[in-house]
Amino acid sequence: MADVTYAKGLEGVIAGESRICKVDGEKGRLYYYGYRIRDLAENASFEETTYLLLYGELPTADQLADFRIKMRSARELTPPILTMIKDFPRTSHPMELLQSVINFLSGYVDHKIAHSPTCNCRNTLHQIAQLPSVVAAFHRYKNGLEPLPPRDDLSHGANFLWMLTGREPDDEDGNIMDKWLVLHAEHSFNASTFTARVVASTLSTCYCSISAAIGSLYGSLHGGANEKVMAMVEEIENVENVRPWLDHALMEKRKIMGMGHRVYKAKDPRSVIMEQFLERLSEKYGDSRNLEILKEVEKVFREKMEEKGKPIYPNVDFFSGAVYSLLGIPTNLFTPIFAIARSSGWLAHILEQRQDNRLFRPKALFVGDVERPWPSIGSRI
Ligand SMILES: CC(C)(COP(=O)(O)OP(=O)(O)OC[C@H]1O[C@@H](n2cnc3c(N)ncnc32)[C@H](O)[C@@H]1OP(=O)(O)O)[C@@H](O)C(=O)NCCC(=O)NCCS
Repeated sequence: MADVTYAKGLEGVIAGESRICKVDGEKGRLYYYGYRIRDLAENASFEETTYLLLYGELPTADQLADFRIKMRSARELTPPILTMIKDFPRTSHPMELLQSVINFLSGYVDHKIAHSPTCNCRNTLHQIAQLPSVVAAFHRYKNGLEPLPPRDDLSHGANFLWMLTGREPDDEDGNIMDKWLVLHAEHSFNASTFTARVVASTLSTCYCSISAAIGSLYGSLHGGANEKVMAMVEEIENVENVRPWLDHALMEKRKIMGMGHRVYKAKDPRSVIMEQFLERLSEKYGDSRNLEILKEVEKVFREKMEEKGKPIYPNVDFFSGAVYSLLGIPTNLFTPIFAIARSSGWLAHILEQRQDNRLFRPKALFVGDVERPWPSIGSRI
């Protein structure tokens, strides 16, 4: 044991160097390549944010214009992909489809597997540009509708809403959807990003790395908390029920979804912005039920935790499901949309991993038996 450092789940272990994202858990700050998330959410589109993540610098006006054209012209799905989506079992979760479609896509694009930092994923941008089209097409097939072609006059977020619902969102809804994607684009060495880097470290393709990351995000400990927040809101039903509901939940030692974070020990800066989005949409649609319940949950829960000397704050998932709900997005698409946003962060990490690659190969702390005597088959019980 003496020379072995072990932390279950690699908690607190530094597993690599990265310049992409800093999460300052104490101050509640998040940076992409040095820019505060607050500034990005205020000023940048998802396309501009993606450029920053893939190139490490903000684009000039010309670079952004070119990049926008490149990303928008990569949105359309080809017939074989559409057939695959149509034939995929309708009862499957869209995350299962997303994981499969990424590798299927790999067979149909001229991506020239370059096991090098210059792999041309930054040029094709398929894994980022096509995920919204895939999610929207699957959703429409499931509901007996034909997929809609992408619109290149709309932002990444607004076009997604259009392809999903067939209604062109107004500026505010389109903008909030796009900023939602900005807020979720990157978050350092979380489980799915680490998965992407591990696969990339074997010099596998970007497609395989991203498909593995999608599998990792699918798990309920990673991508699914905002769905559970909405289930909680449905259970609570109204503001008057919040206090008794929380008393009961805490007595049963239940975790309150959307509250608390491994890294943030202050308010998650993304939840502050998400709350503002929810306020704007609640007012616009004249429906503030979810907002009121959530604010009361936050207030009462924080009061109770502070009494115990454990200040716990909302994380990004706390208000985000309610934002979706007002945008008309069904619950089973929450995690797939997270993947749509995070694809740009994953690709940034894959490219960074390749620039200074070393194969990930940790050791296990062996706790089994050795040198067991061989039993004859008749003597085994
Ligand atoms: C994310 C999470 C796993 C972090 O847990 P953690 O690392 O134990 O967090 P902390 O060390 O700050 O917890 C301090 C204490 O508060 C409790 N706590 C933290 N979050 C809590 C929550 N949401 N509900 C109830 N109690 C909570 C912890 O159990 C711990 O109690 P203890 O001292 O009696 O063991 C936890 O907050 C959680 O399960 N949150 C809900 C799920 C969620 O929203 N996930 C999305 C994360 S982005």
